[in-house]
Amino acid sequence: MATSLRLLRISPLLQKSPRYRKPQIQPSRARTLTTRATRHTLNTGAKIPALGFGTFQDADAQEDAVSRCLKAGFHLIDTAQVYDVEVEVGRGMKKSGIPREDIFLATKLWCNTYHPDDVERALDVSLRDLDTPYVDLLLMHYPCVFARGAERFPRDGEGKMVHGKTTYVDTWKALEKILSTGKAKAIGVSNFSKGEIQTLLDECSVPPAVHQMETHPYLQQKSFNAWLQSKGIHVIQFSPLGNMNPFYRETGWSKDIAHTVERITESPLLKELGFKYNKTPVQMALAWGINSGRSVIPKSVIDWQIDQNIEADFEMEEKDMKRIGSMDRKARFNDPSADYQYRLYSDLEGIEGTVEGKTH
Ligand SMILES: NC(=O)c1ccc[n+]([C@@H]2O[C@H](COP(=O)([O-])OP(=O)(O)OC[C@H]3O[C@@H](n4cnc5c(N)ncnc54)[C@H](OP(=O)(O)O)[C@@H]3O)[C@@H](O)[C@H]2O)c1
Repeated sequence: MATSLRLLRISPLLQKSPRYRKPQIQPSRARTLTTRATRHTLNTGAKIPALGFGTFQDADAQEDAVSRCLKAGFHLIDTAQVYDVEVEVGRGMKKSGIPREDIFLATKLWCNTYHPDDVERALDVSLRDLDTPYVDLLLMHYPCVFARGAERFPRDGEGKMVHGKTTYVDTWKALEKILSTGKAKAIGVSNFSKGEIQTLLDECSVPPAVHQMETHPYLQQKSFNAWLQSKGIHVIQFSPLGNMNPFYRETGWSKDIAHTVERITESPLLKELGFKYNKTPVQMALAWGINSGRSVIPKSVIDWQIDQNIEADFEMEEKDMKRIGSMDRKARFNDPSADYQYRLYSDLEGIEGTVEGKTH
């Protein structure tokens, strides 16, 4: 049976903990800033919303969360086959009543379906589950290729990940062919290094439209972001709230840094700047990403958080952007390199302290 990523459900007890209570913000001026609905243009010519919605975890809550977020004004939904939430995401889109053409839907292929002969079939499974004839964006979830077959995390007798015989370049060429079917309007990558993207640019014909990668005030990847921009590759920031997701403190490969950096909600600088704009630290972190020309996909299944996150697209002064620029700690939280038996992010920042340990 395929291993699932349905991990770390939030217990009802935890839901009552202070972490889940709505912080006090000053309501009198809270909406005086103009809330925008920024869209960026991809190298395909398509528009992608700057503010999106992540769907990793909490499968049982995702149908309602997706419906609620679409009704609240989010138009970009990020999901993945390995999250095991595509059925719920599809139902949530229908429930919202928002027309399909008004939604930018992104999903990701998982690493055991990267053989060129498997790619279209894997996409068909996602389309069936999402109950849609197409996705706006199809991403390779990671550059590493796992052995073909039903097992998402194929391991040998010693528990080590078994790799496939093809490469990410072979998969990319198969994705290029998908474009002509209309089942994916754009293709992109996630968790690639600079060198791996350069290889695609050198050896393939379609450049990635998007790189989805970990970016937040604690991991800013300034030179890599500038390079991607110079190549016309749009960045979607995953985990835009840094270490807010408890997954990064509890997972088997959690790094020390995840325990030492304060949560975004507790950042004194984001609190101070938030006071000026009458925004919360979370809204400041998201606005920093949007004002940098990127898209952000915060995840939440909690109503007040969804309502708060939709108010995160506002103009920030350059001097405040620079101050948030000083928060960079090169703190990369998502690094399953040791478990996947593949050095991810090899030429990027924040790969020190990679930890052994299994999640799946
Ligand atoms: N490509 C990849 O490999 C990859 C990897 C990781 C994530 N992603 C994508 O990126 C999305 C977001 O990443 P993520 O879930 O790791 O991290 P995140 O969105 O940065 O943080 C999520 C955490 O922040 C909390 N939160 C959200 N809004 C909040 C608010 N307004 N105030 C206080 N807390 C708030 C959420 O709480 P609750 O859960 O309690 O609502 C959740 O614990 C994922 O859902 C997924 O779509 C992609």
